[in-house]
Amino acid sequence: MSNVSFEAPRGMRDFYPEDMAWRNRVFDAWRAAAERFGFQPYDACVVESLELLQRKSGEEVSEQIYAFDDKSGRHLALRPEMTPTLARMVAARQSRLTFPLKWYALAQCFRYERMTRGRKREHYQLNLDIIGSEDVLCEAEILGAAVSAMRAMGMPDDAWRIHVSSRALLGELLAASGIPAAQHTAVFVALDKRGKISDEEIAALLREAGLDDAAVSKTFELLAVTSLEGAEALAGAGSPAIANLRALFGLAGQMGYGGLLQFDIAVIRGLSYYTGIVFEAFDVQRRFRAIFGGGRYDSLLALVGGKPTPAVGMGFGDVVVGEVLREVLGDACPVARRGYAVGYMAPEQRPAAVALAAKLRAEGHPVDLALLAQKPKHFFAKAGASAAKYAVFLGPDDVAAGVAQAKDLDTREATPLALA
Ligand code: HAM
Repeated sequence: MSNVSFEAPRGMRDFYPEDMAWRNRVFDAWRAAAERFGFQPYDACVVESLELLQRKSGEEVSEQIYAFDDKSGRHLALRPEMTPTLARMVAARQSRLTFPLKWYALAQCFRYERMTRGRKREHYQLNLDIIGSEDVLCEAEILGAAVSAMRAMGMPDDAWRIHVSSRALLGELLAASGIPAAQHTAVFVALDKRGKISDEEIAALLREAGLDDAAVSKTFELLAVTSLEGAEALAGAGSPAIANLRALFGLAGQMGYGGLLQFDIAVIRGLSYYTGIVFEAFDVQRRFRAIFGGGRYDSLLALVGGKPTPAVGMGFGDVVVGEVLREVLGDACPVARRGYAVGYMAPEQRPAAVALAAKLRAEGHPVDLALLAQKPKHFFAKAGASAAKYAVFLGPDDVAAGVAQAKDLDTREATPLALA
């Protein structure tokens, strides 16, 4: 048999310990933020029914599904996103659940994407969703939790922005331009491709959706709007979508992240189920793909067969944020030191080292016990490079005295530590 390749399959990642340090930094911040904002955890299997995914995901995602048939001929797939599964789970228990519900999941997702910077064929997503309320406070809470996670990861506020728009607003503007509601979803999907394909190709897609030349140029004119005031001038002072966006900006200010939001009519989102406010976060220099994205999707529950129920949520991937964090914080993940590294000079001190490790672990401290007797130089070099906060090295004199020195690896200060 020829040698197997050492590479993970294209687009998939291996996580060595130094990669896990970054991954845990992101996951810990995600979980802490979700819990801080009162979301409850849920989970599901990564294998989902192909039919559910094909019908409910946006058209772009449905072309990227890893699908297979099982040995009984069931059509299955690895989920490309969590939202259809969430809608299925909620619909299954709709009469028993208490709404509005706030749920979160850390979900691994698979998409057969063209590989570009920030896009892999597998990634993890924090999903935060609130189901059962139309109130824009839901959007504000979800964005607040995302901001809290970004800050906990160490991302400075001046490095990124949340771009916000509203499909309802764009719908109002398209309707005011004479484009019927039946064509709006196709228009959104076409406009979302902006930047990825040429404007001529987008115009062709719009014509395919049934727009005439005048409607196509009106649609492009709408994208030239740069401010909420500009949008209001076109939508009219009584626009419910504008009022909703203004309410979100107001709440964001109250919650301490108003400066991070900016109106951006070009945010459309690729998934077809969004109905209202939509948002995407980017680094300020726009060197990376979206850090997270989401929005309101008030029709999806009914689409999977549940009762019509308003919903809003977001997906926050680990790949792009990891790239932006490395750019801002450097390549080595900053880790807070904790626990002890315990070493010993000769086999005679090993029983005392084993006993000390047992005592410290019983007290609740993580301990990395040396597996071999070592010279102090080697032990301290290895301990310094580890995540331990204290290094304790046992020589014959320490064991005879029953006291060793715990060296703080940050401050280099030593404090006596009783061995028994
Ligand atoms: P999405 O925009 O397709 O939305 O994905 C959300 C986030 O997942 C992206 O902003 C990005 O961070 C990450 N992501 C997506 N695809 C990839 C990829 N191929 N490689 C690396 N990262 C990726 C959704 O998935 C919606 N289901 C979010 C949602 C939840 N909306 C409502 N609730």
